[in-house]
Amino acid sequence: MDLNNKYVLVTGASRGIGRAISKALAGKGAFLILSARTEDLLSEVKKEIITSGGRAEYIACDLARDEDILELFKKIKKDFGKLDILINNAGIAKGGSIVDFPVKDFDRLININLRAPYICCQQALKMMIPAGSGYIINISSVVGIKGYPYQTAYSASKHGITGLTKAIAAEVQENGIRVSMILPGGVDTALVGNTRPDLDKSILLKPEDIANTVLYLLSLPERAMVDQVYIRRSVSKPF
Ligand SMILES: NC(=O)c1ccc[n+]([C@@H]2O[C@H](COP(=O)([O-])OP(=O)(O)OC[C@H]3O[C@@H](n4cnc5c(N)ncnc54)[C@H](OP(=O)(O)O)[C@@H]3O)[C@@H](O)[C@H]2O)c1
Repeated sequence: MDLNNKYVLVTGASRGIGRAISKALAGKGAFLILSARTEDLLSEVKKEIITSGGRAEYIACDLARDEDILELFKKIKKDFGKLDILINNAGIAKGGSIVDFPVKDFDRLININLRAPYICCQQALKMMIPAGSGYIINISSVVGIKGYPYQTAYSASKHGITGLTKAIAAEVQENGIRVSMILPGGVDTALVGNTRPDLDKSILLKPEDIANTVLYLLSLPERAMVDQVYIRRSVSKPF
């Protein structure tokens, strides 16, 4: 896909993987719509992109609030008139034994990691279906298909993203819309410390590895489609 003049929304663009994806796509000519809660950081990413010759705007949004998400898409429609690519990347993590993991934390993980991407897909498709094209990439996790101890809520939210991705992909393919997911292992960001504080930083993936995976998916010709990419730390067990 030629990314020039494509409008791309990246959620969780302020830090970590989302920041790396945003900069990589801007470097290929896309117009980046950066979203997250922290305006200072979003403004910093926007500045970095513009300084490197790219194009970007930011719209702050708390994915815990439905009204914020609806306002985000209303602004995209009003300001840009279309959305070509949605990267559902924002997410939170918390580990702990199922026995005493607070239900309110379970609810929060499900809300940010699953419910919000669901609403984002709904809103994006309202623009993509009439346009007859679009690409949605959901950032799941290796725990979106595996189960690790002490990650019940996070894993449940990521298994949810896996199901969401599969069903939407099947529903909208006939509308010319592609839907894929990336399932990363441990990546060197603030988030990994919440689920895998045991992992040695030097053997973690880098946010750029996930950004390159996004570029790979978007680079495929019309005739080829990759549904999912499972990308793990090379020191972890195969398959
Ligand atoms: N790091 C890993 O090891 C790893 C592995 C597999 C999958 N993943 C997935 O990759 C994605 C990105 O994670 P990361 O590692 O880059 O984490 P991160 O560095 O902690 O970044 C998380 C991003 O999500 C945003 N966010 C969090 N809560 C939000 C909310 N309520 N509303 C809007 N934005 C919110 C944050 O922005 P603000 O705080 O500014 O709102 C931030 O930009 C997540 O879905 C994560 O589950 C990560």
